[in-house]
Amino acid sequence: MDNTDMKQIQWFPGHMAKTRRLITANLKLVDAVVEIVDARTPLSSRNPEMDRLTAGKPRLVLLNKSDLADDRAAQMWINYFRNSGAEALAVDCKSGKGLKNVLPTVRTKVLAELMEKRERSGMSGAPVRLMIVGIPNVGKSSLINKLAGGKRAKVEDRPGVTRTKQWVKLDGNVELLDMPGVLWPKFEDQEAAIRLAFTGAISDDILDIETLAMKLLKYLAEEYPQSLRERYKIEFDGSESGIELLERVGRKRGMMISGGEINTERAAITVIDEFRSGKLGRITLEMPQKKEK
Ligand code: G4P
Repeated sequence: MDNTDMKQIQWFPGHMAKTRRLITANLKLVDAVVEIVDARTPLSSRNPEMDRLTAGKPRLVLLNKSDLADDRAAQMWINYFRNSGAEALAVDCKSGKGLKNVLPTVRTKVLAELMEKRERSGMSGAPVRLMIVGIPNVGKSSLINKLAGGKRAKVEDRPGVTRTKQWVKLDGNVELLDMPGVLWPKFEDQEAAIRLAFTGAISDDILDIETLAMKLLKYLAEEYPQSLRERYKIEFDGSESGIELLERVGRKRGMMISGGEINTERAAITVIDEFRSGKLGRITLEMPQKKEK
């Protein structure tokens, strides 16, 4: 991928330091960490320091938005995380699919040792405390709402907006620590940043929408050609450039501007919107065997 046309993504060093401190300070209050990632971009949507920050704590990785991701890839990612020492599950916090497995997995797998120890020492009545972490927009509020079984107000997750940490009590003697502070994604890796822009996890302005759509179309032509053919009824053999693919989509959809030119901006908006809403099918943007940079 040629990234020379990308603007560097800015973040706030002071904010990062504060979030790091918060995680470290609160880690001793919890038994395990539940890390939410986007099933379409399981590595790119992780905070790059998460392993180091939570070292030593049992971990459950939730591959959220699995309704939008490729099932086969999700299974590969589950194996990947299990091989790296965490437990992992695919969930969909919009419909609630897979969520009934979360707390049983925590008790019987993630915290099996602790549960046995508590049982032996007559402490089995102690609450299970979990820290929920994840980059913005990955589905933390949706998860907590679903697990808590009620509507909680969405708390703004933006740099500069202060909120306090809160414990959310669930049935079954479980308490969730909803952390304040924004966990930054893998923004220093430009390939990862592009994947996050595809899903809308980071601002579209890191790349103009047409460049973004062209890169997505190239990826789809390579990895999910059938989805692309079915959705847009276009022909291609994989040798086409991104702009050629984008023009084919625009032409098929009748997106013309005066003079017979194709409105590639409209076509790009359509492709990105349709990808994000799942109309192109269930698509994963990175696979475990492709080595992390
Ligand atoms: P956050 O707290 O981590 O920032 O994420 P939040 O729960 O606010 O979720 C961000 C967006 O992702 C929301 O969409 C939410 O509905 C959507 N989302 C969360 N989990 C899933 C999932 O498993 N599948 C799908 N398809 N979407 C999910 P939004 O457009 O911001 O709001 P709305 O559509 O809920 O109104």
